[in-house]
Amino acid sequence: MSHQPDPSYIMQTATAFWASKVLLTAVELDLFTKLGDQAMTASQLGDELGLHPRGTFDFFDALVALKFLDRDGDGPQGEYKNTSETAAFLNKNSPTYIGGMPEMMNARLFGFWNHLGTALKTGQPQSETKTHGKPIFEELYDNEAKLGVFLEAMTGFQAGNFIALAEKFDFLRYKTVSDIGGALALLSRLVGARHEHLTFTTFDLPPVARHAQEHVDAAGMTERIKVVSGDFFVNDLPKADVITMGNILHDWNLEKKKVLIKKAYDALPEGGAFIAIENLIDDARRENAFGLLMSLNMLIELGDAFDYTGADFREWCEEAGFKRFEILPLAGPTSAAIAYK
Ligand SMILES: C[S@@+](CC[C@H](N)C(=O)[O-])C[C@H]1O[C@@H](n2cnc3c(N)ncnc32)[C@H](O)[C@@H]1O
Repeated sequence: MSHQPDPSYIMQTATAFWASKVLLTAVELDLFTKLGDQAMTASQLGDELGLHPRGTFDFFDALVALKFLDRDGDGPQGEYKNTSETAAFLNKNSPTYIGGMPEMMNARLFGFWNHLGTALKTGQPQSETKTHGKPIFEELYDNEAKLGVFLEAMTGFQAGNFIALAEKFDFLRYKTVSDIGGALALLSRLVGARHEHLTFTTFDLPPVARHAQEHVDAAGMTERIKVVSGDFFVNDLPKADVITMGNILHDWNLEKKKVLIKKAYDALPEGGAFIAIENLIDDARRENAFGLLMSLNMLIELGDAFDYTGADFREWCEEAGFKRFEILPLAGPTSAAIAYK
């Protein structure tokens, strides 16, 4: 029987931004926090959010159909509630809130991705860098509000991966970990909670230190996690048995990736491990759509930065002198690429 082409997947992907924008707008309006553990009718929830009545039923019912809200009953008396997932992850009063990444997607990336065609034709970033010409981290960190949004966004992306790393990697053989570009010290806090024998250095740019220290203190880990400020292109990396970099290498071009890999090598003892936690692309570049889209996102954000395969990582690390390699799949599309000195 001949294969009948089916257009539905084309149309589903072509319109995927509708669903995406509905979710992002719900986060922008803080709908899931306002709803909290209450049940509200469309008119109550619409009033709470300051919405015009034209869109309320369509918006809330689309969220029901997309499984981001539950509803008891139908029509004007129907009452909307958070699902167990939105209650846990999109209510700001929940300790497991991960709305930072959707907030950043909405406030920054949604608009920038509108210029993907320009990015592909020019190879140039389409983010703030395009208009202001400043290096991206300077641009992001030039005011406290943007810095807060960015740092919280990172947290949402990596928590599941760091928990998986704590489970899967054999940390028992090591005593010290330096997390390079550690942001809010999430890796140190999560791996540290699972492995009490480890001590950590979390290393990032100076404006991040205060935020990282607050999180470390709040976790009661002040004695075990040292917050250190510096620039990884200027300073040596803090020495440790294990050097971790979560979503760091993909922020830079090949030349700078290699500089960072060499610095990691220099900061490790013989037998030490360098671990990159990234959306590692499969070697044949056919399967990990998320990793490939992330690499396009790096084009949009930064221009010459890119994501890479496990084979790429191995080649660059071999060049720096590393001897043995391993890939550990973590949560979803993310893996730990590991090189041993
Ligand atoms: C994409 S975020 C990754 C954060 C975290 N490791 C994670 O996995 O979620 C990149 C981090 O690198 C830090 N960073 C950027 N340039 C840096 C530099 N030159 N020196 C030190 N840290 C830097 C940023 O402040 C940011 O926290």
